[in-house]
Amino acid sequence: AHQWRGVIEEYRDRLPVDTDTPVVTLGEGGTPLVRARHLSQTTGCEVWLKVEGMNPTASFKDRGMTMAISKAAQAGARVVICASTGNTSASAAAYATAAGMTCAVLVPDGKIAMGKLSQAIAHGATLLQVDGNFDDCLTVARKLAEAYPVELVNSVNPYRIEGQKTAAFEVVDALGDAPDVHCLPVGNAGNITAYWKGYGEYTSASAQPGPATRTPRMWGFQAAGAAPIVAGHPIDEPETIATAIRIGNPASWRQAEQARDDSGGRIDAVTDEQILAAHRWLSSREGVFVEPGSAAGVAGLLAVHAAGGLEPGQRIVCTVTGHGLKDPQWALRTEDGSEVTPVRVPVDTVSVATALGLEE
Ligand code: F0G
Repeated sequence: AHQWRGVIEEYRDRLPVDTDTPVVTLGEGGTPLVRARHLSQTTGCEVWLKVEGMNPTASFKDRGMTMAISKAAQAGARVVICASTGNTSASAAAYATAAGMTCAVLVPDGKIAMGKLSQAIAHGATLLQVDGNFDDCLTVARKLAEAYPVELVNSVNPYRIEGQKTAAFEVVDALGDAPDVHCLPVGNAGNITAYWKGYGEYTSASAQPGPATRTPRMWGFQAAGAAPIVAGHPIDEPETIATAIRIGNPASWRQAEQARDDSGGRIDAVTDEQILAAHRWLSSREGVFVEPGSAAGVAGLLAVHAAGGLEPGQRIVCTVTGHGLKDPQWALRTEDGSEVTPVRVPVDTVSVATALGLEE
């Protein structure tokens, strides 16, 4: 039986590691690519979900973090720091712990999901809530890393991008080639940058040839209240219920535009309503529970389809970036916004059967 060894060992020859790199892994990557039956049926396309919530800390960040922390360990770092809307902090805290390092995280005031907060704390990170948004946190984290002996593990750290590009390799390995279109949420824009790099490096035409014959069009989607790339200027006070992507000035802005333009793709905005509808679609129809921000790619795909802009017959992969248990409160509301409460029943078979509609 083959045990998945984590993305560094699985793709060692395509990553900037050497025999001296101490590999810090929690078994990240090797995530399921799940056929989305209802999305396929509705769009007339072949739609797949790359379920990144199945990573060790339940988001795609782990792919980048195994690289960033391993390289930090190789450089002798003892302390790492990051700014985060939640998932990066959870991942950094876990991998720093595995490496025996100290981790400090800067999170925006009151806007991080409880699951992510508890992960960072559980893994022993020093967590500071900053009076500002994610962009403010990242500015401070970058300055700290310049002035003090701490390693920055945000996606401005190039090793993060290197690790995250492995998701594109896995998609190609699973499907036999790149898809026609790849949809994903865009926040700080590291992941769209990483996928595009990965797809590019995995074709037969690249310097180190890979199995793909082509690259996909990259379709990135930002939340409408936090869509600086769509607007063409930074957003001072980004707002969205999708706190993971509540970012007004993405660090990899230029690289995201390049991925869009070089691939013949798009970066569009989706509303919170569209995000929540896609979030609900995924859990109630496909059987895949994601956090709201993770559903932005699917929301975008459905919006393009609804606008008549989706050619049928295409093969499409949507990355769903983080697990639903990160931010479960959204599942406990009905479509009209009221709270869901369980039906109470006595310890009695007939009562339970009646409640289930099995009795007259
Ligand atoms: N989806 C989830 C669940 C995320 O946590 C993030 C980013 C994104 C999508 C967007 O990815 O930034 O590479 O464009 N979360 C970062 C964090 C900002 O701090 O956890 P991106």
